[in-house]
Amino acid sequence: MGFSVKGKTALVTGANRGIGEAIVDALVKAGAAKVYAGARNINDLAPLTARHGARVVALKIDVTDPTQIAAAAAAASDVQLLVNNAGFAGHVGGAFTDPEWITSGRQEMEVNFFGTFAVTQVFAPVLAKNGGGSVVNIASVASLVSFALLASYSASKAAVHSLTQATRAMLKGQGTQVFGVYPGPIDTRMAEDIPFDKTSPADAARAIIAGIEAGAEEIYPDPMSQGMGAGYLANPKELEQQVAGMAA
Ligand SMILES: NC(=O)c1ccc[n+]([C@@H]2O[C@H](COP(=O)([O-])OP(=O)(O)OC[C@H]3O[C@@H](n4cnc5c(N)ncnc54)[C@H](OP(=O)(O)O)[C@@H]3O)[C@@H](O)[C@H]2O)c1
Repeated sequence: MGFSVKGKTALVTGANRGIGEAIVDALVKAGAAKVYAGARNINDLAPLTARHGARVVALKIDVTDPTQIAAAAAAASDVQLLVNNAGFAGHVGGAFTDPEWITSGRQEMEVNFFGTFAVTQVFAPVLAKNGGGSVVNIASVASLVSFALLASYSASKAAVHSLTQATRAMLKGQGTQVFGVYPGPIDTRMAEDIPFDKTSPADAARAIIAGIEAGAEEIYPDPMSQGMGAGYLANPKELEQQVAGMAA
């Protein structure tokens, strides 16, 4: 079953740049009535609020801060669509023995996994009150197969994939639809050191909204993720070997 965005109220975390900012633009274009744009520093949201006027409301939310999450849920009690987009990649490349994998990995788990979990826990009753609604988790193609270049980030995104499945099962009873998004390389600050062809955030955001509206529980919003998503479903071992070969 698809989730129609038209007339709905949404919240996007990490909306001040990259994919999150593009999702806010795409939601407004698709007819959302109101979009809360979440950011750690609401001054960073000035371009979005200037572009969209009263339809975009700036909301302070660090997804690792329980007090800010609770305050955001109180301020945005009309949310029907929660997009867990905020994410962090702390360490790219290097030797397996580099201690930085552990240091950055803890922070990646804190933002990507625990942040998504904590925000969804607090907003689940809000969604239930507003008719069920939808949760969209921005995972990664690295949720499905580990990229050695991004070893600890891949693990945190595999955790997001697992959480997405649990959220779908656990919130089904309250009528909440849950979508997982598995992007490949998208041209944002996070991916600036990633040596692959990249899709624009605007194209990815359009594909994400189209996937939600079509009711696709797994959304592959760019050419690389479409290929790898199909490979994962057909033969996960072959995909693992293919991606390991890229690192060699
Ligand atoms: N780009 C890619 O190739 C790619 C591929 C697959 C999946 N993704 C995922 O897509 C999502 C968006 O990433 P992006 O590519 O747009 O990267 P980005 O440009 O680096 O943006 C990351 C966003 O997350 C926010 N953020 C980080 N930590 C936060 C926290 N503790 N609380 C709230 N917000 C926080 C950042 O805010 P600040 O400005 O305050 O740091 C920023 O708005 C992430 O979940 C990422 O893992 C990206």
